[in-house]
Amino acid sequence: MSSNLFRTKQVEQSILDTEEPEHALKKSLSALDLTVFGVGVIIGTGIFVLTGTVAKNNAGPAVALAFVAAGVVCALAALCYAEFASTVPVAGSAYTFSYASLGELPAWIIGWDLVLEFALGTAVVAVGWSGYVRSLMDNAGWTLPDALGGRDGAEGFGFDILAAALVLVLTAILVLGMKLSARITSLVVAVKVTVVLVVIIAGAFFIKGDNYDPFIPKSQPVAAGESLDSPLIQVMFGWAPANFGVMGIFTAASVVFFAFIGFDIVATAAEETKNPQRDMPRGILGSLFICTVLYVAVSVVVTGMQHYSRLSVDAPLADAFKATGHPWYAGFISFGAAVGLTTVCMILLLGQTRVFFAMSRDGLLPRFFSRVHPKYKTPHRPTILLGVLIAVVAGFTPLSELAALVNIGTLFAFVVVAVSVIILRRTRPDLPRAFRTPWVPVLPILSVAASLWLMLNLPTETWIRFGIWMAIGCVVYFVYGHGHSRLARGRETPAGEAVTSRRGDTE
Ligand code: ALA
Repeated sequence: MSSNLFRTKQVEQSILDTEEPEHALKKSLSALDLTVFGVGVIIGTGIFVLTGTVAKNNAGPAVALAFVAAGVVCALAALCYAEFASTVPVAGSAYTFSYASLGELPAWIIGWDLVLEFALGTAVVAVGWSGYVRSLMDNAGWTLPDALGGRDGAEGFGFDILAAALVLVLTAILVLGMKLSARITSLVVAVKVTVVLVVIIAGAFFIKGDNYDPFIPKSQPVAAGESLDSPLIQVMFGWAPANFGVMGIFTAASVVFFAFIGFDIVATAAEETKNPQRDMPRGILGSLFICTVLYVAVSVVVTGMQHYSRLSVDAPLADAFKATGHPWYAGFISFGAAVGLTTVCMILLLGQTRVFFAMSRDGLLPRFFSRVHPKYKTPHRPTILLGVLIAVVAGFTPLSELAALVNIGTLFAFVVVAVSVIILRRTRPDLPRAFRTPWVPVLPILSVAASLWLMLNLPTETWIRFGIWMAIGCVVYFVYGHGHSRLARGRETPAGEAVTSRRGDTE
C-alpha cells in the first residue's frame, strides 16, 4: 500500500497521454503568448487593491520592500517551475510535475491544493472586479441594490451579482476555445499595462518627499486576544503581535504575494505551447520580471503621492489621484483596473480547469471530465462545472480572508515543486531539460525556505482552514482516486498491455 501511494507516472507516459486524440489540447501558444498570458494574470487585485491595504495596516511606504521580498520568493520558485515545465510539458502544472517525481499521493495533494488556489483566486479577483465596476457605475449615477452588491462588510442575505456574472461569461469564452481567449487577453493586457504605466509616470509628478517619512514605520503592538488573526510565527514563538517595523514588511509580503500569483499558471499551459522546451522558461521568467519592476514602481509612487495612513483600501491607485486633485486620472485608472481584472479572472479559471482536467485524465477524478469538446477541443466539462461553482462562491463570499487562503495554497505548491526538482534530478537524470535550475540543490532549498517563511507569516486561522481543505482532499483520494487512478488500473493488466488498454478506455 505505502509503495502504491508513491507510485510515479513516467514522464514519457505523461507526454504520450497528451497525444491521445480524444484527450489532446491544441498546441498553439508561443513564448510571446505565454508572456502576455503571464502578465495578463499576474497584474491584478494584488497591485490594484492590496497595495493600499498593506501600506496602511502593515508596512507603510516599505510596502515596496514587501513587493521585493515576495518577488524574490517567486523568482526562486520560478526557476524551479521553469525546469519542470520544460521537462514535463503536459497540462497540470505542479500537479503533473509531482506525479512524475514524488508519486501519486503527493501529486494528488498538490492537485487538490491547486484547485483551492485557482478556484478561490478566481473568486477573489471577480469580487475585486465587481468593486471597481460598481465604483464606475456610481460615478455614472447607477447604484445596485445592497443585496446585489459586494459582500465585504455587507449585512444580511446578499449575492454579488456582478462577480458571479463575470465568472459565468468567462466560463463561456473558455469553453469556446483557447485561441479566442488568448486574443482577448492580449488586448486587455495592453489596457492594463497602460494603466499601470500611467500611474507610475503621471503619479511621479505628484510625489511629496514628506510622505516617505518614516519609510519603515515603527513597530506598533496590536490588540491582544486576536491570536487567530496573528501570523503563525508570532503565535509559535509567543512574540507580542505587532504591525509595522521590519516584521511588518514580511507580514505585508505574505499578503502582497497574491499580486504575483499567476506566473505558475503559465506552466499549466505547457501542453498548449508550440515549443515548451524553449518557450516555457522564457514566458515564466519574463512575465515575472516585468511585473516585479512595475509593482515596486507603483508602490513607491503611490505611497509618495499620499501618506500611507490616508491611502484608500478599496481603490488606492485611483484614490491617490483623487486625493491629489486629479479625478480624471482616477476615472481612467478605475476603468482600466476593471478591464484588466477580467483577464486575471479568466486565466485563473483556465489554470483551474486544466489542473482538474489533468487529474481526471489520470483517473484521480472521474474520467467523464477529461473528454475534450469534439469541436472546440477544450475541456468543456470541468470548465462548466467549476465555472458555476466559482460563480456561486464569488457571489456569496467576501474576499479578504480568501486571499490569504489562496496564498498559503500557492506557497505550499512552491515548496513541493522545489523539492521535486531535487528528486527528479536524482531519479531521472537522463531526461532532457531545456531549462536547468541553477545551483541545485542550493537554490531549490532556498526556495523551500523562502516559501515556508512567507507561509509562517500568514494568520493562524488561514493555516487551520488550509489544514481542513487538505484533510478533505485526503479523504477523497482514499475513497475514490486511489482505486480509480490509471496507474492503479494499469497495474492490473500484464506489463506491456497497460498502455493499449488505457488507449481503448472509453468510459
Ligand atoms: N496576481 C493576481 C492578482 O493580483 C492573481 O490579482
